[in-house]
Amino acid sequence: MGRLQDKVIIITGALGGQGQIAVRRFLEEGARVVASDRAADAAGDVATLMAEQPERLAYLGGDICGDDLPGQLVATAVERFGRLDVLYTNHGMMVGKPFLETTMGEFDALIATNLRAPFALSLHAARAMAASGGGVIIHNSSVGGIVGFPTMAAYGASKGGLAQLARSMATDLAEHGIRVNAICPGVVDTPMPRRYVGDVGEEERTAAFDAMAGMHLLKRLARPEEIVNVVVFLASDEASFMTGAVIPVDGGLTAI
Ligand SMILES: NC(=O)c1ccc[n+]([C@@H]2O[C@H](COP(=O)([O-])OP(=O)(O)OC[C@H]3O[C@@H](n4cnc5c(N)ncnc54)[C@H](O)[C@@H]3O)[C@@H](O)[C@H]2O)c1
Repeated sequence: MGRLQDKVIIITGALGGQGQIAVRRFLEEGARVVASDRAADAAGDVATLMAEQPERLAYLGGDICGDDLPGQLVATAVERFGRLDVLYTNHGMMVGKPFLETTMGEFDALIATNLRAPFALSLHAARAMAASGGGVIIHNSSVGGIVGFPTMAAYGASKGGLAQLARSMATDLAEHGIRVNAICPGVVDTPMPRRYVGDVGEEERTAAFDAMAGMHLLKRLARPEEIVNVVVFLASDEASFMTGAVIPVDGGLTAI
């Protein structure tokens, strides 16, 4: 028996660096998964897992900011697997730019992706969960939602909003048996920080990654598995007394 045996979970951003690891781990723990990302079809590890376990893994692609996809994901979970137990809003985008150079278009895109879409998904998911006796919602925020960083004003505002959304939703949803928490990763070794550093020379890249590693007490980036471990715990009954928590998973970055 896995720690999440037969639980039904939606994972967004499922083709990303953390998402692919999350899909694999949740399946290993016995869950049934509805995975979603922007691409129309599953790819990489998720495509392989779908071929191996079609009865436990479904994929629905599209822009999570669209009006229809959040509801369709919840409907897919209920139609394919009979219920919804866990929502993990893991998708996200980052724009790293000095405040004075950030455009309103970039700000709007960050809020739409990192805050509005998790809100919409949560509405659909929580309604289904309340009707079936409860569930768990986990938002993937960021240390950028807790402390300020240069070039991260718009991203930080979206992720700070997401952390606060978790706290606030928890207060409304406790009576429906729904726990809501947010995790705040430090820098994780996925395509996201690589895009942030950009197309620079080897020396500049090494210096940028050394600087990012140096912000953490542990002096390195997180491996995606180290973030997903906490998500699995929060999704499981082992975290039955945790709700409304905003949890750094950051190698000590916010301790200093
Ligand atoms: N990597 C880090 O250093 C870091 C640190 C703190 C928090 N986070 C957060 O962790 C989460 C996972 O990121 P990751 O590190 O795996 O990065 P990633 O870029 O590999 O994955 C993000 C995924 O989100 C998807 N996505 C973005 N916008 C979308 C949209 N409009 N519709 C559908 N899908 C969309 C992307 O396609 C991508 O697959 C994100 O919310 C990110 O903000 C990442």
